Amino acid sequence: MWVGNSLLFNWLDRILVPAQAPGQTSKPTGTVWLLHSGGFYYVEKTLLAGEPLPRPLHWFKWQAYTTWLSGAALLVVVYYLSDRAVMTDPGAFELSHAQANLAGIGAIIGGWALYESMQRVVAPRAPAVAATVWVTGLAAIAIALTQILSGRAAFLHVGAMLGTIMAGNVAMTIVPSQRELVSSVAEGRGADATVSARAKRVSIHNNYFVFPVIALMVISHYPVFYASPNNWLVLFLIGASGAGVRHAMNLRFTNRWWKPMLAGTIAAGAIALFTAIRLGSSAEPTLGGDSSVPVVFADVRHVIDRRCTACHSGQPSDLTFGAAPGGVTFDTPEQIVARASRIHERAVVTRTMPPANKTKMTDAERALLSRWISQGPPLRPRQ
Ligand code: HEC
Repeated sequence: MWVGNSLLFNWLDRILVPAQAPGQTSKPTGTVWLLHSGGFYYVEKTLLAGEPLPRPLHWFKWQAYTTWLSGAALLVVVYYLSDRAVMTDPGAFELSHAQANLAGIGAIIGGWALYESMQRVVAPRAPAVAATVWVTGLAAIAIALTQILSGRAAFLHVGAMLGTIMAGNVAMTIVPSQRELVSSVAEGRGADATVSARAKRVSIHNNYFVFPVIALMVISHYPVFYASPNNWLVLFLIGASGAGVRHAMNLRFTNRWWKPMLAGTIAAGAIALFTAIRLGSSAEPTLGGDSSVPVVFADVRHVIDRRCTACHSGQPSDLTFGAAPGGVTFDTPEQIVARASRIHERAVVTRTMPPANKTKMTDAERALLSRWISQGPPLRPRQ
């Protein structure tokens, strides 16, 4: 609802038909007719000079607060209170669960504090310096997270850091400036146009953060993005192309070439992401092993039993994720064979299973699975 409202009001602001003679601020500054569900809506924008404050007056702030609060609660439950499997990747960097949590929380608070201090202290005098410092600082934090946390946790924390900055902008700048606006109208002073200048600046930032944050929130379901050894580059490309797409959308009211620009931005982003992921996966170490020696299914099953069924079973022994994650179980040969291509994708290609290699699967075991698949996807379990 937060993002939906924000997109709707951005659109409204630009689409309003000017309806006012110069100097007549009490008249609507713009109007627009809308059609939605079963009726027509007439929207009027006004600065309410010298008029009483209308009641009830609906504010738009709880959409932002509940988004942040529910996201923060999920982060605590899913990442901080659960096992270390998802926060760290021992193959990349050794951290205890507590240290990893501290790094994650520190990144969120540190990134927000850097941004907020730049906005308050430096931006009023030197906006370009402030923007350079916070953009560089946030990028450095993001890259550092990809180096010390598991790819999935790093991406999620960068999204959480940007989301916290956005919610902070609403709570600490936009809503206070709206309060000032309301009280100046209530006192009959009329709205002070300068009051909203800072609010305007940070809402432009929120506007550009929206798409990268949404992408980072859902990307934990797509290991191909976060598991690439180039994931810091992938992260950067997601941020840049998300903001670029938003920019092309913002231009649509002022630039008649916005459609080709939007299409070009999407295409360039997709090609750059694809290339970055491809370059990353060709850098994967080859697993070795003689591919001509036929693999015995009993060996495959033994590997799966040792490394996977702790979680992927009707009766999992590792209860971190509750029931079998994703509904995937490997209790019978048929279940293993039916998932052969996904097993290959997760355990051999992206190496995102076991998560952060919790069950300490070896390269030789991955190589065995790889050979098993490359000898032709088995239709029935071979004995
Ligand atoms: C510590 C618990 C754990 C272990 C051990 C584990 N997994 Fe998973 N698995 C998960 C979780 C959590 C998910 C769901 C999240 C996700 O997809 O990343 C999942 C999802 C999956 C999926 C379904 C999603 C998809 O991409 O198709 C497959 C297949 C899978 N794992 C294969 C494996 C294989 C193969 C092994 C052993 C080499 C393994 N897992 C070991 C926790 C585990």
